[in-house]
Amino acid sequence: EKGGYEHFMLKEIFEQPKSVKDSMRGRINAHKGHILLGGLREYINKLTQAQRIIILGCGTSWHAGLVAEYVFEELARIPVEVEYASEFRYRNPIINEGDVVIAISQSGETADTLAAIELAKSKGAIIFGVCNVVGSSIPRATHAGAYTHAGPEIGVASTKAFTAQVTVLTMMAIVVAKTKGTISDSLYRELLYALEAIPDQIQKTLNNHSQIKYISSIFRDARNFLYLGRGYNFPVALEGALKLKEISYIHAEGYPAAEMKHGPIALIDEEMPVVFIATQDSSYEKVVSNIQEVRARKGRVIAVVTEGDKLIKQMAEFVIEIPATHEALVPLLSVIPLQLLSYYIAVMRGCNVDQPRNLAKSVTVE
Ligand code: F6R
Repeated sequence: EKGGYEHFMLKEIFEQPKSVKDSMRGRINAHKGHILLGGLREYINKLTQAQRIIILGCGTSWHAGLVAEYVFEELARIPVEVEYASEFRYRNPIINEGDVVIAISQSGETADTLAAIELAKSKGAIIFGVCNVVGSSIPRATHAGAYTHAGPEIGVASTKAFTAQVTVLTMMAIVVAKTKGTISDSLYRELLYALEAIPDQIQKTLNNHSQIKYISSIFRDARNFLYLGRGYNFPVALEGALKLKEISYIHAEGYPAAEMKHGPIALIDEEMPVVFIATQDSSYEKVVSNIQEVRARKGRVIAVVTEGDKLIKQMAEFVIEIPATHEALVPLLSVIPLQLLSYYIAVMRGCNVDQPRNLAKSVTVE
């Protein structure tokens, strides 16, 4: 059942070329310039005409929502707020006409997310679901939605569900942007081709697994980790830190790289590994300066970089390369090495990666 892999988590990490492809299957055709999410059709106007999008989720699904915030705002020019479902539901939230909600959940059973949906619905919002488990409670409570087709996720730590969520949310943003005319035809085409290339690029990233395993062996006894990224990679930093915490029990924090100097920099010494997600995008130069600041304080830098990067190779102790893609799609690739890093470190520490202590696969109580 684990398909020859030692753990479900590893199997699911390695399934991502397929699960991302499955999430796009029949929905996108770059050559023909088509993209279609059938489950949204009836309510698509609500989404394209939305004055504001409120995204709800918990944990890793909330991180996928943060990526979607950047994508929707950049491409579709709709203001987005991403809320923890558990906070939203107890805050007497303001829902105006023209607001739509997107609820994200792998299991479709998370109690806080379900309660937040019911509350938003009672205030008149139209709710879209992005869920993995077909027929679960959340898809039944929403007006419309698009399933992720990641297949069953057994490992408690969410991996392939995250990349499938980001894939589907990105497709939703592209559909809206195309309809609204907020992206050019050439950018539209470019994004579709870039999306279609992602599964092979994930495979290429996975092929680096032995290098990531080696890096893991160097840092397996670390007591803390910092993860830093900017822009589209900021949510990836949060996700990398969450993965490490939950399966290896190493304390880790994710931050937007520029926030480092507002506090976390005080933690940096020769014992602090800092994982930078430093791909060649619009914040590249700024992240390079952040790496220099960490080096100056003897922090140990592991950097996820764009293939062929030479500058960071001279500065970081370790670099992990990922293929180049459109900036908005980078999280689909940059998260992969971080999943593997947390997996190998947890295994080397003797942790039960598929069933970490104190955690349940779906949180059906608040
Ligand atoms: C992290 C993880 C959790 C879930 C969260 C939401 O690896 O698995 O943080 O992401 O409990 O679960 P769903 O997506 O099922 O609503």
